[in-house]
Amino acid sequence: MSRASSGIANTDVVVLAYSGGLDTSVAVRWLIEEMSVDVVAVAVDVGQGGDWDALRARALAAGAASCVVIDAKDEMASDYAFTALKANALYEGKYPLVSALSRPVISKHLVAQAREHGAGAVAHGCTGKGNDQVRFEVSVRALAPDLGIIAPVRVWGMTREQSLEYARQHDIPLAPKKAAGGDLYSIDQNLWGRAIECGVLEDPWQAPPQDVYELTVPMVTEPREVVISFEKGLPVAIDAKELPPRELIEEVSRIVGSYGWGRLDMVENRRVGIKSREVYECPGSLALIMAHSDLEDLTLERDLAHEKARLEPRWAELVYDGLWFSPLKEALDSFMASSQRHVSGDVRLMCEPGRCYVVGRRSPEALYDWELATYDAADSFRHSDAEGFVRLWGLGVETWAARQVRPARDEG
Ligand code: ARG
Repeated sequence: MSRASSGIANTDVVVLAYSGGLDTSVAVRWLIEEMSVDVVAVAVDVGQGGDWDALRARALAAGAASCVVIDAKDEMASDYAFTALKANALYEGKYPLVSALSRPVISKHLVAQAREHGAGAVAHGCTGKGNDQVRFEVSVRALAPDLGIIAPVRVWGMTREQSLEYARQHDIPLAPKKAAGGDLYSIDQNLWGRAIECGVLEDPWQAPPQDVYELTVPMVTEPREVVISFEKGLPVAIDAKELPPRELIEEVSRIVGSYGWGRLDMVENRRVGIKSREVYECPGSLALIMAHSDLEDLTLERDLAHEKARLEPRWAELVYDGLWFSPLKEALDSFMASSQRHVSGDVRLMCEPGRCYVVGRRSPEALYDWELATYDAADSFRHSDAEGFVRLWGLGVETWAARQVRPARDEG
């Protein structure tokens, strides 16, 4: 592909979202060879773990002019994961949007780096079949419509074997195979969880092999309780110990994951029209969403709770579809934020091997009123109010029903 046909004829510098893996390492060299540009490799740390020095060395060995590593873990936790938590965001009712949440963070930093280095375009290593290309490109276009976007992997159409061969020919060093999964799976991980795709998982009938799991390996058998404290919808402490957002997410993930809980195995609808079998490990995000929505049951007024429940799937769908930076998502954020004013209190989670569930909740702002709810002598509910209320509530149905059994006389 020529520079002109990519629509970025005026650039000498391209900022590439760099993961350190095979595809983005090959992309570094491919951009240099095919488009005659300087490549700035940008790796954004959203909690995926890894050896950043080795990654930097690999980017430079592949030919990058420079490599920038950005620590965005706190930002990922406070601005992205916690925003999703307020919306109890689960795509298709199950998936807590792990990858979908990190793409806008990464895009934001790509754009900032593009400005810093005077780049005319950003590039990413996504294929044409996934959601991540959609999220990167829509986010970048929302933030910087003037920048070009290049997707080398989508252009070159190399198989994995061909990419490996290209790497060998160009002396591009590759990362040592990861202990778990090796080369078999495509993995994307951040603070909110871990997504595992490819290999045997592509057959939806095949049970996931145990070696796909890293965050939810059962290690503890002794049951334990964890108390999560929330303030205005956000978790602030575990067992009364205050923790900043990132540490709190990591700690909940670690505790709950050690009971082997937090796995998902699902067939999901991608934005690009493909159904895919996905395996996820989301111990922290799923536990926090469970605790948070339980506390909402105690503190949200009924109409607000019901309307919020209707909007939550929409929020999740927008973010899944790459519309983090969009007017509807922004407006829904305001709604979600406003709904959280009274969502403060504690939730007790019970952890047992393979299980995690809520066993109690309390809040200074609870709408639960014991004197109204109780059936014992302290009852303050005015029972006589119920009689007239129920009669009026059912009046319409009663009138309709009577009409069914006794047809009007002048009929027929
Ligand atoms: N299907 C999930 C999503 O669209 C996970 C994507 C994982 N990405 C990856 N490159 N393995 O959010």
